[in-house]
Amino acid sequence: MIYKALTDDFKIPVIGLGTWGIGGFMETDSSKDEEAVQAIKDAIELGYSHIDTAELYGAGHTEELIGNAIKDLDRSKLIITSKVFKTNLKYDDVIASCKKSLEKLQTDFIDIYLIHAPNPEILLEETMRAMDYLVEQKLVKFIGVSNFSVEQMQEAQKYSKNRIVANQIPYNLATKDKDYRGSCINMESEIIPYCQENDIIVIAYRPIERGFLLKPNSLLDDLSRKYGKTKAQIAINWLVSKKNIITIPKSTSPDHLKENLGAIGWDLSDEDIKLLDETEFESPNN
Ligand SMILES: NC(=O)c1ccc[n+]([C@@H]2O[C@H](COP(=O)([O-])OP(=O)(O)OC[C@H]3O[C@@H](n4cnc5c(N)ncnc54)[C@H](OP(=O)(O)O)[C@@H]3O)[C@@H](O)[C@H]2O)c1
Repeated sequence: MIYKALTDDFKIPVIGLGTWGIGGFMETDSSKDEEAVQAIKDAIELGYSHIDTAELYGAGHTEELIGNAIKDLDRSKLIITSKVFKTNLKYDDVIASCKKSLEKLQTDFIDIYLIHAPNPEILLEETMRAMDYLVEQKLVKFIGVSNFSVEQMQEAQKYSKNRIVANQIPYNLATKDKDYRGSCINMESEIIPYCQENDIIVIAYRPIERGFLLKPNSLLDDLSRKYGKTKAQIAINWLVSKKNIITIPKSTSPDHLKENLGAIGWDLSDEDIKLLDETEFESPNN
């Protein structure tokens, strides 16, 4: 595994495990619990140590499944990221959400706790006070944000005693600098450079755009042949070749889990990275 520095003394693997849809999307789906817990255990066995989740996922069931998968494992070897949803950003609600997540995850602390998305209806100052409290109480090691613009990151940092270590954003070959479903704009032109200059890790979510990037595409097909790697591997390698960017592909398939880990340990040439940078890919948005 390759790591990037989250802080001076805490490193995070460039590939982690996404969990959106495991145990349900917006609602709980318990129909595949056994397979889901096994898939998470398989992933850890294969070498995934960073697991990304959120209280939203499966209406809390995803965290429960992760809790079941990790309860007998060495917690110190795992990095768990979870997120407080944007409707729970009032002071007491943030703390209550975090405590519920801890219970579901069957753990005493969350490594990285993110604000899932900004909510202009709730004062960010109030949310950040609660995030600081969670760090003080050692319920959370590090705090961060998701789907935040540069201005929102700066505002969050202004109100927090603790450093914002990460911004999780929908960055991939298809999204690049596009206004992505209104949730994040100017990722390449503003958010990523700001994070790179300020030692903030960018957690690129939806690295293969939920499979959309695996459709026929002349450049990705050519590069796939040239490097003897799959399109998912090329798309992930391109992401993590960039300063401060890590990613979290979701999979419950043993083959895909292995394939995604095979996205690292080799390099795209500088020319091919530039070609990928400069090529406009079709996205679900256009
Ligand atoms: N902060 C936010 O607002 C936010 C929003 C969305 C997502 N996220 C996080 O980011 C994670 C990743 O995003 P995502 O799950 O939406 O999309 P994704 O990782 O781009 O794609 C996941 C989909 O691709 C399939 N897949 C994975 N690897 C594959 C491969 N090598 N070949 C073919 N298919 C493959 C998976 O199916 P199989 O399981 O069958 O492999 C799944 O259907 C989420 O799970 C979640 O943790 C965060």
